[in-house]
Amino acid sequence: MEKEVLSIVDKRNGSTYEVPIHHGTIRAMDLRQIKTGPDDFGLMTYDPAFMNTASCKSAITFIDGDKGILRYRGYPIEQLAEKCSFLEVAYLVLFGELPSDPQLKEWVGAITHHTMLHETTKHFLEGFRYDAHPMGMLVSTVAALSTVYPDARNIHDPQVRKLQIMRLIGKMPTIAAYTYRHSLGLPYVYPDNDFSYSENFMNMLWKMTEPKYAANPVLARALDILFILHADHEQNCSANVMRSVGSSHADPFLSTAAAAAALSGPLHGGANEEVLKMLDQIGSKDKIPAYIAKVKAGEFKLMGFGHRIYKNYDPRASVIKWAADKVFEVTGRNPKLDIALELERIALEDDYFVKRKLYPNVDFYSGIIYQAMGFKPEIFTVLFAIPRTAGWLAQWQELLEDGEQKIARPRQVYTGYEARDFVPMEKRGVPAATATP
Ligand code: CMC
Repeated sequence: MEKEVLSIVDKRNGSTYEVPIHHGTIRAMDLRQIKTGPDDFGLMTYDPAFMNTASCKSAITFIDGDKGILRYRGYPIEQLAEKCSFLEVAYLVLFGELPSDPQLKEWVGAITHHTMLHETTKHFLEGFRYDAHPMGMLVSTVAALSTVYPDARNIHDPQVRKLQIMRLIGKMPTIAAYTYRHSLGLPYVYPDNDFSYSENFMNMLWKMTEPKYAANPVLARALDILFILHADHEQNCSANVMRSVGSSHADPFLSTAAAAAALSGPLHGGANEEVLKMLDQIGSKDKIPAYIAKVKAGEFKLMGFGHRIYKNYDPRASVIKWAADKVFEVTGRNPKLDIALELERIALEDDYFVKRKLYPNVDFYSGIIYQAMGFKPEIFTVLFAIPRTAGWLAQWQELLEDGEQKIARPRQVYTGYEARDFVPMEKRGVPAATATP
C-alpha cells in the first residue's frame, strides 16, 4: 500500500513538509518541526475539550457515533447485553477475550471473595453526614481504600495490578450499597457469597430482617444488563481522567476515585439523576412544549440528550428501552416513562434537535428503570460507577502497558501578561489589585 502522507505548505515562509498519516491521524509532534525561524518553538495544535485529538491507541471499545455502533473488544453491545453476565463482560473488557467456562468460574469466585470491606472502611463511611450525596461518599471511600492496600502502589507488577482490579470490582457494589444504606439510616448488610454480582448488590441494598434475601430474577437480570451497557465507553471524560491520573503512576484506588469524581458531573454520569429531576420539573405531558421552548432559548440543556460522539441514537438507550419493558412487567410502569417518551417524540421532530443531531443518550432512560426498581435518584450515578470501574481499570492497564504513553501533560496557549516588574503594596491601586489577567 502506498504510504499515506500529508503535504503541508507553510505560507509564512514557503517551507514544505511531509507528515505521515497513520490510522487517519497525524502526530501532533510532527508539527513541531514547522517553524518560521530558530527561535520559533514550532507549531502546536489547539484543541480545547479534545474535540479532534486522539490521546491514545486503544483496543478496548469501538464506537461509530454516526451509525450508533458500540462494541467491546469487537463484540456488539446488543449481543453482549443479551447473552452475557456483567462479570463475563468485565473479564472481556479487562483481558481482551470472553472467558472460557473454567476462567469465568475462577473470575467470579475471585470477585466474590473480594466483596468484603475492611471494618475500618465501614467505620469511615459512618462518619459521613446523614444527607451526604452517595457519589461524594463513594469517591472518598474508594480513595480511602488506597490507605488499606499500600501494596497497590506497585503498579508495575501485573499480578499486583490484577489483585487491585479484583478488589475494586468486588468492593464497588459493597461501597455503593453502604452509601445507600447510610443515607437511609439503615444498618449495613454484609455481602453474601451465594449470590451473583447483581443479586448480591440487591441483597446489600434491600435486605431487611428476613434471614435470607430473595432477589427478583427479572430485576437482577435487568440490573446486570444495565451494568453491561455501562462497562466502558472509550475515551470519555472519566476514562480520560483515569488515564491522566494513572499516567502519574498514582495507585489504582486513587485513580479510580478521580475517575469517579469526573463521572459525578451532570454533563457526564450525573446526567441520569438530572433527567429524573427534569421529568419531575416538567410534571406532565402538556408542559413539554413550554419546557422545550426554554431549552431552545438556551436557558438550560435537555438532560439525557446529546453526546460528543453519538450523532445518532445511542445504542445503549435502545437496549435500555427494551430492558425497561421487562422491569415494568414486575414493578408496574413508571409514570415518568410517558413523559420521557413524549419528550423524546417531540424533541426528535424538532428542527433544533434534528439539526444538531441530538438524540437520547444512555442516561435518558436508565433513571426511569432505576426508579421503578426502587432506587432513589441520588444513587443513580453510583449505579453507573459500579460497572464503569471495569472500563476505567481496562483503560488504566492499557495505558501502563503502552510504551508510547508518558505522564499526561498538555500544552497551553499563554494569553497572560508579558514579564512585568513587581508592584509594591503602596503602589497598587484598587483596580490593579482586583484586575485578573
Ligand atoms: N440540550 C439542548 N441543546 C444541546 C444539548 C442538550 N442536551 N446538547 C447539546 N446541545 C446543543 C449545544 O447547545 C450546541 O448548540 P449550538 O451549536 O447552537 O451552540 C450543540 O448542541 C452542540 O453541543 P455541544 O455542547 O458542542 O456538544 P458537546 O459534545 O460539547 O456536549 C454533552 C456533549 C453530552 C455534554 C451535551 O450534549 C450535554 O450537555 N447533554 C446533556 C447532559 C447529558 O445528557 N450528559 C450525558 C452524556 S451520555 C453519558 C455520559 O457520558 O455520562
